[in-house]
Amino acid sequence: MCAAQIVPEEQIQRQYEYMDLIAARNAEQERLSGRKPRAVAHTFGCQQNFADTERLAGMLVEMGYALTDDLNEAGLILYNTCAVREHAESRAFGNVGALTHVKKARPETVIALCGCMVQQEKAAEKVRKSYPHVDLVFGTHALWRFPELLFRTLTENKRVFDLSGDEKGEIAEGLPVLRGDGVRAWLSIMYGCNNFCTYCIVPYVRGRERSRDPETIESEFRELIAAGYKDITLLGQNVNSYGRDLGQGEDFSALLRRLDAVPGEYLIRFMTSHPKDASPRLFDTMAECRHVARQLHLPFQSGSDEILHRMNRGYTAEHYRGLIAYAREKMPEITLSSDIIVGFPGETETDFEQTLTLVREVGFDMLYTFLYSKRSGTPAAEYPDHMTKEEKQRQFERLLRVQDETVEKRQADYLGKRLRVLVDGEGKDPNYPYAARTEGGLLVCCSGQGLKTGAFAEIEIDKTTLRCLFGHAV
Ligand code: 5AD
Ligand code: SF4
Repeated sequence: MCAAQIVPEEQIQRQYEYMDLIAARNAEQERLSGRKPRAVAHTFGCQQNFADTERLAGMLVEMGYALTDDLNEAGLILYNTCAVREHAESRAFGNVGALTHVKKARPETVIALCGCMVQQEKAAEKVRKSYPHVDLVFGTHALWRFPELLFRTLTENKRVFDLSGDEKGEIAEGLPVLRGDGVRAWLSIMYGCNNFCTYCIVPYVRGRERSRDPETIESEFRELIAAGYKDITLLGQNVNSYGRDLGQGEDFSALLRRLDAVPGEYLIRFMTSHPKDASPRLFDTMAECRHVARQLHLPFQSGSDEILHRMNRGYTAEHYRGLIAYAREKMPEITLSSDIIVGFPGETETDFEQTLTLVREVGFDMLYTFLYSKRSGTPAAEYPDHMTKEEKQRQFERLLRVQDETVEKRQADYLGKRLRVLVDGEGKDPNYPYAARTEGGLLVCCSGQGLKTGAFAEIEIDKTTLRCLFGHAV
């Protein structure tokens, strides 16, 4: 496999020229109206999408827009959509449908859709036919061409659709990013996915795995640390296969060591890991790196080998147990979380029981549970499915109960313990006015003299609930 191509410098430069052209138009508008034109940039879906929206927002600011949440004052509304489950799609369509009123009241408002949902031919076609008020549609691979596409939308007086695929497998570097205030930041280290789990649409809409160059990642990481971010999450669909396409011998463990060597007081987190590619080497590295948080999100999806096989996950429940045992041996205090799918086609009661058993056995700190959602174009969409919606719903609720029991038990174990946390905002409870995260990523509401956002502190836990730990500074 060869390394991803970097979009040539001249083409990035072209995007800056389009940004200048739009900025000039917006400056003229500002001169006439006395204020900057407003833009809404809203994200549906996962962290990767949030990170993409930060790049789009960076371009919007460069183009002279001020960001807002108020649809009624926006001259441009951009929705970054998700396709992972049907629910995400119907929410996006619902929100887009509601914009007909905005368009009627202010026809000059530009309405734009981008991201995973509209990368699918079928969804884009639906927008084309049934949502005529949408002016601009572009998929995940055209994200970096947003300025050019927006310029065409503004000047050509016709709808613009760009659904180009990832034939070139390109990565665009050097475009602006607008990150939120605060102490946490996302950093994409790779794009796409090669795994083709049979239920998942992601590989079809985000293309093949492309790793960013380690030097580029390191310099962006250093910029984040210099800007005062303290809690940085490295993002990829399957970070454990980072670097495979680069052919330089630097894998994810090596990347972690490289970043861990950057001086400062901060935490590194990462997601998502795949049990097929997570290795003892990764856990050894985590244990040895000073800044790497003791937190692991390792989705197992199902506790049944038969279902795992039909999901094309590439591991067994036993292998998964082995990984957890090794991670815990190396880092006894590690916080564990996972994703689970309930109601995969053909799943039996026995399969489901095996999932419950695994949940109970491992004792996760957090679980993200999903009802299987049929995604057209994926292999599992063709699998026979005998279970009724009601049966699946009942299983789902059983799983939620088991999840609550195990999470509650885990939380209770923290009572009286001292934990290092990073204060990252304000809490809602006046007795515990600060919100913080443990190294393991758990939410702690805390009180105490001298706590401040962006600072690390030692907290003793006074009480626990399902969602939050409470404690005071020591
Ligand atoms: N239906 C339900 N859940 C899904 N996920 C991915 N695809 C589907 C689907 N078709 C879940 C998986 C994955 C998480 C991000 O979303 O659990 O780990
Ligand atoms: Fe989807 Fe599987 Fe890739 Fe995750 S690893 S994005 S679940 S195909």
